[in-house]
Amino acid sequence: MRLVLLGPPGAGKGTQANVLCKEFKVLHISTGDLLREAVRNKAAVGLEAKAYMDKGELVPDEIVTKMITEKLKDTDVSSGFILDGFPRTKRQAEILDKALETLRLPLDMVVYFETKEDTILRRLTGRRVCRKCGYNFHVTNIPPKKEGVCDYCGGELYQRDDDKEVTIRKRIDVYNNQTKELIDYYTEKKLLHKASGDLEVNALFSELKKGFKESGMI
Ligand code: AP5
Ligand code: MG
Repeated sequence: MRLVLLGPPGAGKGTQANVLCKEFKVLHISTGDLLREAVRNKAAVGLEAKAYMDKGELVPDEIVTKMITEKLKDTDVSSGFILDGFPRTKRQAEILDKALETLRLPLDMVVYFETKEDTILRRLTGRRVCRKCGYNFHVTNIPPKKEGVCDYCGGELYQRDDDKEVTIRKRIDVYNNQTKELIDYYTEKKLLHKASGDLEVNALFSELKKGFKESGMI
Protein backbone atom coordinates (compact mmCIF):
# COMPACT_ATOMS: atom_id res chain seq x y z
CA MET A 1 0.00 0.00 0.00
CA ARG A 2 1.50 3.30 -1.15
CA LEU A 3 -0.69 6.27 -0.31
CA VAL A 4 -0.70 10.04 -0.11
CA LEU A 5 -3.15 11.65 2.33
CA LEU A 6 -4.20 15.05 1.00
CA GLY A 7 -6.46 17.52 2.78
CA PRO A 8 -6.70 20.73 4.74
CA PRO A 9 -5.18 21.18 8.19
CA GLY A 10 -7.23 19.32 10.79
CA ALA A 11 -8.84 17.00 8.23
CA GLY A 12 -7.61 14.04 10.27
CA LYS A 13 -4.69 12.97 8.07
CA GLY A 14 -2.39 12.15 11.00
CA THR A 15 -5.10 10.39 12.99
CA GLN A 16 -6.21 8.24 10.04
CA ALA A 17 -2.59 7.52 9.05
CA ASN A 18 -2.01 6.08 12.54
CA VAL A 19 -5.03 3.79 12.24
CA LEU A 20 -4.15 2.68 8.69
CA CYS A 21 -0.50 2.02 9.52
CA LYS A 22 -1.46 -0.18 12.47
CA GLU A 23 -3.94 -2.18 10.36
CA PHE A 24 -1.83 -2.55 7.20
CA LYS A 25 1.69 -2.52 8.77
CA VAL A 26 3.04 0.24 6.56
CA LEU A 27 5.27 3.18 7.36
CA HIS A 28 3.81 6.58 8.35
CA ILE A 29 5.81 9.48 6.93
CA SER A 30 4.59 12.92 8.03
CA THR A 31 6.57 15.98 6.98
CA GLY A 32 4.95 17.97 9.80
CA ASP A 33 6.17 15.40 12.37
CA LEU A 34 9.65 15.26 10.80
CA LEU A 35 9.90 19.06 10.87
CA ARG A 36 8.69 19.28 14.50
CA GLU A 37 11.27 16.62 15.43
CA ALA A 38 14.01 18.72 13.76
CA VAL A 39 12.79 21.76 15.72
CA ARG A 40 12.89 19.77 19.01
CA ASN A 41 16.41 18.53 18.23
CA LYS A 42 17.51 22.08 17.37
CA ALA A 43 18.78 20.81 14.01
CA ALA A 44 19.74 23.53 11.49
CA VAL A 45 16.86 22.54 9.22
CA GLY A 46 14.46 22.77 12.20
CA LEU A 47 15.59 26.26 13.13
CA GLU A 48 15.07 27.41 9.55
CA ALA A 49 11.67 25.69 9.28
CA LYS A 50 10.30 26.95 12.62
CA ALA A 51 9.90 30.55 11.45
CA TYR A 52 7.62 29.41 8.60
CA MET A 53 5.68 26.89 10.72
CA ASP A 54 4.94 29.41 13.48
CA LYS A 55 3.44 31.76 10.89
CA GLY A 56 1.39 28.95 9.31
CA GLU A 57 3.30 29.26 6.03
CA LEU A 58 4.80 26.44 3.97
CA VAL A 59 8.43 25.57 4.58
CA PRO A 60 10.37 26.10 1.28
CA ASP A 61 10.12 23.20 -1.20
CA GLU A 62 13.92 22.61 -1.25
CA ILE A 63 14.01 21.85 2.49
CA VAL A 64 11.00 19.55 2.51
CA THR A 65 11.78 17.64 -0.70
CA LYS A 66 15.37 17.01 0.45
CA MET A 67 14.03 15.65 3.74
CA ILE A 68 11.58 13.31 1.98
CA THR A 69 13.87 12.07 -0.78
CA GLU A 70 16.52 11.22 1.85
CA LYS A 71 13.92 9.45 3.97
CA LEU A 72 12.70 7.40 0.97
CA LYS A 73 16.29 6.47 0.06
CA ASP A 74 17.46 5.59 3.59
CA THR A 75 14.37 3.69 4.76
CA ASP A 76 13.03 0.36 3.60
CA VAL A 77 9.68 1.40 2.14
CA SER A 78 9.20 -1.71 0.00
CA SER A 79 6.35 -2.98 2.19
CA GLY A 80 4.43 0.28 1.81
CA PHE A 81 4.05 3.80 3.16
CA ILE A 82 1.57 6.55 3.90
CA LEU A 83 2.68 10.09 3.14
CA ASP A 84 0.85 12.56 5.38
CA GLY A 85 1.13 16.27 4.58
CA PHE A 86 3.43 15.74 1.61
CA PRO A 87 3.33 16.77 -1.21
CA ARG A 88 1.79 20.21 -0.68
CA THR A 89 2.82 22.01 -3.88
CA LYS A 90 2.99 20.95 -7.54
CA ARG A 91 6.79 21.17 -7.38
CA GLN A 92 6.84 18.76 -4.41
CA ALA A 93 4.48 16.38 -6.27
CA GLU A 94 6.74 16.33 -9.34
CA ILE A 95 9.84 15.63 -7.24
CA LEU A 96 7.99 12.84 -5.43
CA ASP A 97 6.96 11.30 -8.77
CA LYS A 98 10.61 11.21 -9.88
CA ALA A 99 11.85 9.72 -6.58
CA LEU A 100 9.20 6.97 -6.65
CA GLU A 101 9.90 6.25 -10.32
CA THR A 102 13.58 5.67 -9.46
CA LEU A 103 12.55 3.31 -6.66
CA ARG A 104 9.97 1.63 -8.95
CA LEU A 105 7.36 2.15 -6.26
CA PRO A 106 4.52 4.18 -7.84
CA LEU A 107 1.62 5.53 -5.76
CA ASP A 108 -1.52 3.36 -5.53
CA MET A 109 -3.87 6.13 -4.48
CA VAL A 110 -4.15 9.71 -3.23
CA VAL A 111 -6.89 10.04 -0.63
CA TYR A 112 -8.41 13.51 -0.51
CA PHE A 113 -10.15 14.32 2.79
CA GLU A 114 -12.95 16.77 1.91
CA THR A 115 -13.59 18.65 5.16
CA LYS A 116 -15.81 21.58 6.20
CA GLU A 117 -14.17 24.69 7.65
CA ASP A 118 -16.10 24.58 10.95
CA THR A 119 -14.95 20.96 11.45
CA ILE A 120 -11.34 22.07 10.90
CA LEU A 121 -11.60 24.89 13.45
CA ARG A 122 -13.29 22.72 16.09
CA ARG A 123 -10.72 19.97 15.66
CA LEU A 124 -7.60 22.11 15.68
CA THR A 125 -8.53 24.37 18.59
CA GLY A 126 -9.22 21.22 20.67
CA ARG A 127 -6.25 19.11 19.56
CA ARG A 128 -3.77 17.88 22.16
CA VAL A 129 -0.62 16.01 21.09
CA CYS A 130 1.60 13.66 23.11
CA ARG A 131 5.08 15.11 23.54
CA LYS A 132 6.58 11.61 23.72
CA CYS A 133 4.82 9.43 21.10
CA GLY A 134 3.05 12.10 18.99
CA TYR A 135 -0.45 10.58 19.33
CA ASN A 136 -3.26 13.09 18.59
CA PHE A 137 -6.10 13.50 21.10
CA HIS A 138 -8.98 15.98 21.14
CA VAL A 139 -10.45 17.55 24.27
CA THR A 140 -13.99 16.46 23.37
CA ASN A 141 -13.86 14.22 20.24
CA ILE A 142 -11.07 11.89 21.36
CA PRO A 143 -10.33 12.75 25.00
CA PRO A 144 -7.54 10.99 26.91
CA LYS A 145 -8.62 8.88 29.91
CA LYS A 146 -6.74 11.26 32.21
CA GLU A 147 -6.59 14.96 31.32
CA GLY A 148 -3.16 16.03 30.03
CA VAL A 149 -1.74 12.48 29.94
CA CYS A 150 -1.28 10.16 26.94
CA ASP A 151 -3.28 6.89 27.17
CA TYR A 152 -0.57 4.96 25.34
CA CYS A 153 2.78 6.06 26.80
CA GLY A 154 1.94 8.31 29.77
CA GLY A 155 3.60 11.29 28.02
CA GLU A 156 2.51 14.90 28.58
CA LEU A 157 -0.12 16.32 26.20
CA TYR A 158 0.48 19.78 24.73
CA GLN A 159 -1.12 22.21 22.29
CA ARG A 160 0.81 22.77 19.05
CA ASP A 161 2.23 26.32 18.60
CA ASP A 162 0.42 26.63 15.25
CA ASP A 163 -2.99 25.63 16.68
CA LYS A 164 -3.94 29.22 17.63
CA GLU A 165 -7.02 30.45 15.74
CA VAL A 166 -5.15 33.18 13.80
CA THR A 167 -2.48 30.66 12.62
CA ILE A 168 -5.11 28.04 11.81
CA ARG A 169 -6.86 30.56 9.51
CA LYS A 170 -3.53 31.33 7.82
CA ARG A 171 -2.89 27.59 7.31
CA ILE A 172 -6.34 27.21 5.72
CA ASP A 173 -5.55 30.11 3.32
CA VAL A 174 -2.19 28.57 2.45
CA TYR A 175 -3.89 25.24 1.78
CA ASN A 176 -6.50 26.89 -0.51
CA ASN A 177 -3.87 28.90 -2.41
CA GLN A 178 -0.97 26.44 -2.70
CA THR A 179 -2.07 22.86 -2.02
CA LYS A 180 -5.61 22.56 -3.41
CA GLU A 181 -4.29 22.50 -6.99
CA LEU A 182 -2.94 19.02 -6.26
CA ILE A 183 -6.53 17.75 -6.46
CA ASP A 184 -6.45 18.45 -10.22
CA TYR A 185 -2.89 17.14 -10.52
CA TYR A 186 -3.83 13.74 -9.07
CA THR A 187 -7.27 13.63 -10.74
CA GLU A 188 -5.48 13.84 -14.10
CA LYS A 189 -3.23 10.98 -13.05
CA LYS A 190 -6.38 8.97 -12.11
CA LEU A 191 -5.11 8.51 -8.56
CA LEU A 192 -7.53 10.71 -6.60
CA HIS A 193 -10.01 9.07 -4.23
CA LYS A 194 -12.39 11.36 -2.32
CA ALA A 195 -13.31 10.63 1.30
CA SER A 196 -15.35 12.61 3.82
CA GLY A 197 -13.01 14.15 6.41
CA ASP A 198 -16.08 15.15 8.46
CA LEU A 199 -16.84 11.54 9.42
CA GLU A 200 -15.77 10.25 12.82
CA VAL A 201 -12.55 8.20 12.94
CA ASN A 202 -13.98 4.65 12.67
CA ALA A 203 -16.60 5.55 10.05
CA LEU A 204 -13.91 7.15 7.88
CA PHE A 205 -11.64 4.13 8.34
CA SER A 206 -14.47 1.80 7.14
CA GLU A 207 -15.14 4.08 4.16
CA LEU A 208 -11.45 4.00 3.23
CA LYS A 209 -11.21 0.21 3.55
CA LYS A 210 -14.21 -0.11 1.23
CA GLY A 211 -12.44 2.11 -1.33
CA PHE A 212 -9.23 0.06 -1.05
CA LYS A 213 -11.19 -3.17 -1.63
CA GLU A 214 -13.04 -1.76 -4.65
CA SER A 215 -9.79 -0.66 -6.24
CA GLY A 216 -8.13 -4.05 -5.57
CA MET A 217 -5.53 -2.65 -3.17
CA ILE A 218 -6.47 -5.05 -0.36
P1 AP5 B 1 1.32 19.45 9.47
O1 AP5 B 1 1.80 18.93 10.75
O2 AP5 B 1 1.28 18.54 8.30
O3 AP5 B 1 -0.09 20.13 9.71
P2 AP5 B 1 -1.38 20.25 8.78
O4 AP5 B 1 -1.32 19.79 7.39
O5 AP5 B 1 -1.78 21.66 8.96
O6 AP5 B 1 -2.34 19.22 9.33
P3 AP5 B 1 -2.57 18.88 10.81
O7 AP5 B 1 -1.51 18.01 11.34
O8 AP5 B 1 -2.88 20.15 11.56
O9 AP5 B 1 -3.96 18.11 10.70
P4 AP5 B 1 -4.27 16.58 10.41
O10 AP5 B 1 -5.03 16.51 9.12
O11 AP5 B 1 -3.08 15.70 10.56
O12 AP5 B 1 -5.32 16.30 11.58
P5 AP5 B 1 -5.19 15.41 12.91
O13 AP5 B 1 -5.26 13.98 12.56
O14 AP5 B 1 -4.10 15.87 13.79
O15 AP5 B 1 2.19 20.72 9.06
C1 AP5 B 1 2.52 21.72 9.99
C2 AP5 B 1 3.40 22.77 9.33
O16 AP5 B 1 4.63 22.17 8.86
C3 AP5 B 1 2.82 23.43 8.06
O17 AP5 B 1 1.99 24.54 8.38
C4 AP5 B 1 4.08 23.85 7.32
O18 AP5 B 1 4.64 25.01 7.88
C5 AP5 B 1 5.04 22.68 7.61
N1 AP5 B 1 4.96 21.62 6.59
C6 AP5 B 1 4.57 20.33 6.78
N2 AP5 B 1 4.62 19.64 5.64
C7 AP5 B 1 5.04 20.51 4.69
C8 AP5 B 1 5.27 20.38 3.29
N3 AP5 B 1 5.04 19.24 2.63
N4 AP5 B 1 5.68 21.48 2.62
C9 AP5 B 1 5.92 22.67 3.26
N5 AP5 B 1 5.71 22.84 4.59
C10 AP5 B 1 5.28 21.77 5.30
O19 AP5 B 1 -6.60 15.78 13.59
C11 AP5 B 1 -6.85 17.06 14.12
C12 AP5 B 1 -7.65 16.93 15.43
O20 AP5 B 1 -8.93 16.37 15.17
C13 AP5 B 1 -7.01 16.03 16.49
O21 AP5 B 1 -7.28 16.57 17.75
C14 AP5 B 1 -7.74 14.68 16.33
O22 AP5 B 1 -7.81 13.99 17.57
C15 AP5 B 1 -9.12 15.12 15.85
N6 AP5 B 1 -9.69 14.21 14.84
C16 AP5 B 1 -9.00 13.67 13.79
N7 AP5 B 1 -9.82 12.92 13.02
C17 AP5 B 1 -11.05 13.03 13.60
C18 AP5 B 1 -12.33 12.50 13.26
N8 AP5 B 1 -12.48 11.73 12.17
N9 AP5 B 1 -13.37 12.79 14.05
C19 AP5 B 1 -13.21 13.58 15.13
N10 AP5 B 1 -12.05 14.12 15.51
C20 AP5 B 1 -10.98 13.85 14.76
MG1 MG C 1 -1.04 16.04 11.06
